[in-house]
Amino acid sequence: MDHFDYRDGELFAEDIPLSRIAKEVGTPFYCYSTATLERHYQVFADAVAPLGGDVCYAVKANSNIAVIATLARLGAGADVVSGGELRRVLAAGVSADKIVFSGVGKTPEELAKALEAGVKQINVESEPEFLSLSDVAVAHGLEARVAVRVNPDVDAGTHEKITTGKSENKFGIDLALARDVYARAAELPGIKLIGVALHIGSQLTDLEPYRIAYSRAVDFVHLLRSDGHNIRHLDLGGGLGITYDQENAPSPEAYGKMVSEVIGDLDISVTFEPGRMISGNAGVLVTKIIFVKDGVGRQFCIIDGAMNDLIRPTLYDAYHAIIPVKEPDAGVEKMEMDIVGPICESGDYFAKNRAMPPVKDGDLLAVRTVGAYAAVMGSMYNSRALAPEILVNGAQYSVVRRRVEIDDMLKFEILPEWMDTER
Ligand code: LLP
Repeated sequence: MDHFDYRDGELFAEDIPLSRIAKEVGTPFYCYSTATLERHYQVFADAVAPLGGDVCYAVKANSNIAVIATLARLGAGADVVSGGELRRVLAAGVSADKIVFSGVGKTPEELAKALEAGVKQINVESEPEFLSLSDVAVAHGLEARVAVRVNPDVDAGTHEKITTGKSENKFGIDLALARDVYARAAELPGIKLIGVALHIGSQLTDLEPYRIAYSRAVDFVHLLRSDGHNIRHLDLGGGLGITYDQENAPSPEAYGKMVSEVIGDLDISVTFEPGRMISGNAGVLVTKIIFVKDGVGRQFCIIDGAMNDLIRPTLYDAYHAIIPVKEPDAGVEKMEMDIVGPICESGDYFAKNRAMPPVKDGDLLAVRTVGAYAAVMGSMYNSRALAPEILVNGAQYSVVRRRVEIDDMLKFEILPEWMDTER
């Protein structure tokens, strides 16, 4: 459920017509709904409440500080994967004791920043990382609270580029090796081992891979405890899928129930790292049609949004619903078209052979379900501006990231001294 609906023939974000924002801010722009973000967070938090679970929103999905702050106000913690994300969540007001630092390649500088901030937990993914973290902790006179990220070798059944829990993936430590690694890590100075973490992939629409992976993690906790380790925390990652098209995504309630069954009486505190499930449906990308162009046997709808604003269709063959901002008449005949951006690549498309109601130059379209993994994966390819991000809250809206223009970009570029060209 989201808060983007037609009212009186116009698409609204909560109580604001998207055409009004388009007029005032220009296109393309991302538009997020506070009520949708809050609702999704709450549904997930309620579903895992019986487990006493901590919800650490995976900010990689949408790391705008206004989005993070919206969730933090409801009690969300944060899962971060870089020094940059750490800066963002601290700036958004997430308290350090609710921050988990994940990621396969954390630098000593990033580890030091996390330790100085006093994060709740660092998820370590390899033996070299243990050694590095131990060095950093000792050098700073601090102790790191650490969970080992294990790789349970489970096929999440998602797109190959977003599956992470198979042994051929770079993530985590193989369960077969993890026991010994844990034992060695326990001897390292500056390291306090507190738990086990895993994350098997993203956009999972089936609970079975979770059940298998989580059962393996529970067995591993028993094994570690039998070795004398005091394992108090289990981080179950994120990955719960959402509906982009016809997917039948499991409900957070069903997920919570499955987790309770698998955890049983393990007596352990549980952390979750949902990203997409919270922010995915809370955003649309509003774009304007530049031209409708007739090709041979097909029509191209050329819009001012492009793969630099939303790379998911071309990168993962992802489906995103696209609807006109002005509501089409009921029963109107649809025709197939390719919806493409202006970038000089054939991969620059949002949809192929998509049945659309009649559209014309200047019309506004809304690309749905872009609250996760859209703006954060944006680039300035073809020297295109970074589209602004708008947050709506009831009848108010605010520009929460302004458009980043070519002039901003040129400020970062420098002609070398040996070129005396005046700019
Ligand atoms: N925790 C860890 C350690 C992760 O690597 C991820 C996502 C999450 C949590 C959150 O997963 P979520 O609940 O959002 O599925 N760019 C891709 C998705 C990449 C996900 C990477 N890791 C896409 O657009 O589909």
